[in-house]
Amino acid sequence: MAQKRILTGDRPTGKLHLGHYVGSLQNRVKLQDQYDTFILIADIQALTTHFEHPELIKQSIYEVAIDNLAVGLDPNKVKWVWQSHVPAIAELTIFYSMLVSVNSLRHNPTIKTEAANYGYDDMTYGFLGYPVSQSADITFLNADLVPVGEDQLPHMEVTRKIVRRFNEMYAPDNPVLVEPKTMLSTCSRLMGLDGNAKMGKSLGNAIYLSDSAETVASKVKSAITDPSRISLKDPGHPDICVVNKYHQIFNTAEHANVCEMCKNAQIGCVACKKNLAAALNNLLDPIRERRAYYENHRNEVKEIIESGTALANQIGNETVRKVKDAMHLSL
Ligand code: TRP
Repeated sequence: MAQKRILTGDRPTGKLHLGHYVGSLQNRVKLQDQYDTFILIADIQALTTHFEHPELIKQSIYEVAIDNLAVGLDPNKVKWVWQSHVPAIAELTIFYSMLVSVNSLRHNPTIKTEAANYGYDDMTYGFLGYPVSQSADITFLNADLVPVGEDQLPHMEVTRKIVRRFNEMYAPDNPVLVEPKTMLSTCSRLMGLDGNAKMGKSLGNAIYLSDSAETVASKVKSAITDPSRISLKDPGHPDICVVNKYHQIFNTAEHANVCEMCKNAQIGCVACKKNLAAALNNLLDPIRERRAYYENHRNEVKEIIESGTALANQIGNETVRKVKDAMHLSL
């Protein structure tokens, strides 16, 4: 039986960090053996917020691709697709824009939150409409499954609605578009070591997959711990300590022990942080090694992106042909 197809995407607006690792990259590595996996490097979507800095986007296309390869995604299995080089996505976006009301986009909770975060009081047409373009991302490839975090659920609903409307209206007897299912990631949010609910580039609290071992150690050193614990002799409260939460995620084997020692004042925060930094660096070392390889073989990265994009174009052109047929747009 043919493998089911997965499509997911990254906005190339900077390097990826541990939050991305926990929320999606780790999962992608597991899925690659079971599914026909495509990863979209969504540079057009990145433009919706970073249109004033296209040079940053260009640079980040490599960063994001290398981060993905470095975590262990296998270029013989996974395909990377460069969004702006797939005209089918742009064409489908136009057709789909007829099927989505402006009000439904205005009320989309993720659009609302992001617009508020970016301080848009008069958002662009492109930004408001990016869920429509995202629907094209997913459907041009006939993706069956889309692994995403919770914030993307409203966009998945837009996609599914478009597919249903399109098929009902234009292809009632023989559906053209595939209705995708959401694969919700179990851990979609990693808190920051500064106590912020989220790790994020713009929050200034990110540990990047590309950080050196020294940088990781110094970032962990400045983490917030239990504020009521002033000296080593004070018993700690691991349940309210961010460093402890990180042990739970990244140092699972020692977590229970770290908790006990903290509660019994047998380990101080400095040593506990050192342990955590060591665990993180253990995780990151093989990633660093693969990264070094791809950084020295950028041509290989370019070829990987080009060949994935070529395959995507073949599939996309076929989808556009079917869509145009169904819409009476072909002779
Ligand atoms: N919106 C996604 C994000 O911000 C990125 C993305 C673009 C995407 N196109 C997609 C995700 C298609 C899943 C499917 O993370």
